[in-house]
Amino acid sequence: MNILILGSGGREHALAWAVKQNPKTDRLIVAPGNAGIAQLCETADIDILDGAAIVAFCEQNAVDFVIIGPEAPLAAGIADATRAAGLLTFGPSAAAAKLEASKSFTKEICAACNAPTAAYARFTDPGPARAYVQSQGAPIVIKADGLASGKGVIVAMTLQEALNAIDDMFSGEFGAAGAEVVIEEFMTGEEASFFVLTDGTNALPIGTAQDHKRAFDGDTGPNTGGMGAYSPAPVLTDAIAERAMQEIILPTIAEMARRGTPYQGVLFAGLMIEGGRGRLVEYNARFGDPETQVLMMRLGAQALDLLLACAEGRLDSAQVHWADDHALTVVMAAKGYPGDYEKGSVIRVLKDIPETSSQMLFHAGTTEKAGQLTATGGRVLNLTARGDSLAQARARAYDMLDAIDWPEGFCRTDIGWRALKD
Ligand code: AMP
Ligand code: GLY
Repeated sequence: MNILILGSGGREHALAWAVKQNPKTDRLIVAPGNAGIAQLCETADIDILDGAAIVAFCEQNAVDFVIIGPEAPLAAGIADATRAAGLLTFGPSAAAAKLEASKSFTKEICAACNAPTAAYARFTDPGPARAYVQSQGAPIVIKADGLASGKGVIVAMTLQEALNAIDDMFSGEFGAAGAEVVIEEFMTGEEASFFVLTDGTNALPIGTAQDHKRAFDGDTGPNTGGMGAYSPAPVLTDAIAERAMQEIILPTIAEMARRGTPYQGVLFAGLMIEGGRGRLVEYNARFGDPETQVLMMRLGAQALDLLLACAEGRLDSAQVHWADDHALTVVMAAKGYPGDYEKGSVIRVLKDIPETSSQMLFHAGTTEKAGQLTATGGRVLNLTARGDSLAQARARAYDMLDAIDWPEGFCRTDIGWRALKD
């Protein structure tokens, strides 16, 4: 079959790498892709927020299956446009993707199905919001309601930080995303990511991971989109995962169906784990980045069969075949990320990295310019490896650093520390 993947990050490179290995794949196209993806398969320069352009491209290229990577096209209704055109699609409708696009909507769903999450209140004006945090005290969490590229959340450790965050959000710092603000109870515990495929009715867990959100070693520095990840997440035990299925995931899927907006795609639940139980921090309506890099490393070619079963409503008979393995990815980002950073620096790959099922260099913000690999984004490369143990996966991932000469880049040196300390 002919497959189109939308997106250009490390997540999409990893998805493409797994899909390409499946014998069902005849032709694979990624739009718009990046320099690493261009070495693997075809790329196409389409605006991934333009539904009509995507449908026209699919018709011209006999595309059988569309996989949507990032949240922006989901929120923009691209899955609605491709399904309306009769194209088999992986990814939720805009109405279902509200589980990521609106934090207050997610809270409403949790309340309706009694899913454990932080207590909260929502505000459209700064006065009552300020009064509320004064009554609750710190620590407390202030969130812009809409999509803000992971930057619309302030975990305020002091009352003053909380008040400043409210002022910033209502003064338009997050644009339309900040017109409504959700204020939440601060949850303690350890965070982990849980990935579940659902076709609207059936659900199939496909793995766990842990991300490293802070920019620098020791979990210091500003929050980023994620500086590294590993899978599985030891803290998310089978028992806690099963409990999260019963208390959070299945009730959410049922509530979305009951409202006439069934959720189809991957439901990525961020869980705060404490006392043998997970509480929902947030939902994402897409795969995680960089979590997908480690999930795909472990799933390999079967990932396509799972995504197809999801899109075709056959998850009740689908199964994941797990190896007893571990994967870890280290993100290399441009110096300055997540703040201002220089674009256009040259990356030299000094020696061939053998791209195998146990070592892969996934690209994110890269392009090829005048024959040179050039950095175009904040997060640029993902050194990804698999091993029999997490320690082995980590050693293999960091080994790849020797092959890369990129003075304008940096990475954390402690990815996996939490799981490896025990
Ligand atoms: P989100 O964009 O909702 O994932 O929030 C970003 C990060 O803020 C999360 O990954 C958590 O580390 C933290 N966070 C969000 N909500 C809470 C909460 N209620 N309690 C503690 N930490 C939180
Ligand atoms: N790495 C976190 C995310 O993809 O949202």
